[in-house]
Order: sequence, then structure tokens, then C-alpha cells
Amino acid sequence: MKILVINGPNLNVLGKREKSIYGEKTLGEIDALLKKQGAALKVEIVTFQSNHEGALIDFLQEQADSADGIIINPGALTHYGFSLLDALADTKLPIIEVHLSNIYSREEWRAESVIAPIAKGQVSGLGWRGYIAALEALAGELKGESG
Ligand code: DQA
Repeated sequence: MKILVINGPNLNVLGKREKSIYGEKTLGEIDALLKKQGAALKVEIVTFQSNHEGALIDFLQEQADSADGIIINPGALTHYGFSLLDALADTKLPIIEVHLSNIYSREEWRAESVIAPIAKGQVSGLGWRGYIAALEALAGELKGESG
């Protein structure tokens, strides 16, 4: 089983960027934790980050056929990334949207996600632990675990 973990614009500077909002961990540290948890769950984790919407779309088009699910933090593309939305929808894979911060308690424009309508679920405001929660939920679903 393979899960793609995708991060959009500005998430490459986690650990430096607005730490009081996004936390202290770097994206490398978060990706490493996901790979560790993936190994424990017997799920292959493939990570990708880009600051460019087109690169995110290229990655999805290249990888989707060999993947079983997607965890994505689209960064600010969450709020206006219609090309990314179309590419995600085209994969037909189950998607969990993750945000480190609570997008509903910040500026009004952050409270709208164009991705949410096609996502299976969303985790918002749990910091780096939100990625782990998303992985556990998605892996459980894909394995058909009940309960
Ligand atoms: C974010 C929230 C977005 O509004 C913002 O543009 C980001 C990060 C989050 O993880 O909380 O880049 O997706």
C-alpha cells in the first residue's frame, strides 16, 4: 500500500516560518515521522513538496496510478487552487486534507477550502500530529479496518 504525502507552497520553510502558528518542526522532520509511522503500519510513504502548483499537478499525474491514497497540505492553494483541485479529483483516490493551523480561527479568507468538497476528511489545527492522525485514519480505511 502506498500513500502520497504532498505539501504545497511555503511548507518547505517549516521550522523557520511563523513558528507560533506552524510549530517548530521542519518538513524533513515531519516527513521522517510519517515514514516511521508508515513503516509501523506497513504502508509505503512517498513525500513531495513544491512551491509551484504545476509541479504538484505533474507529481500527482505521475504517481496517482501507483498510489492508494493522498494526504495533502496544499498551503495557500487550499483557498484558490482550482487546477490542483482538478488534478486531485482526477486521481479518484481517497484524500485527507491537513492543515497545521486551525484555518477556521484565522483570517476569513483562510476558512474556505476549495479542496475540502472532494476530500474524505480534513484535519486542521493539530500541528504536525495532524499528519500522523491523517495517516492512521487513511491507512485504517484503506485496510478496511472497522471500528
Ligand atoms: C496552512 C494554512 C494555509 O492557510 C496557509 O496558507 C499555509 C499553511 C496550514 O498548514 O495551516 O501555507 O495550510
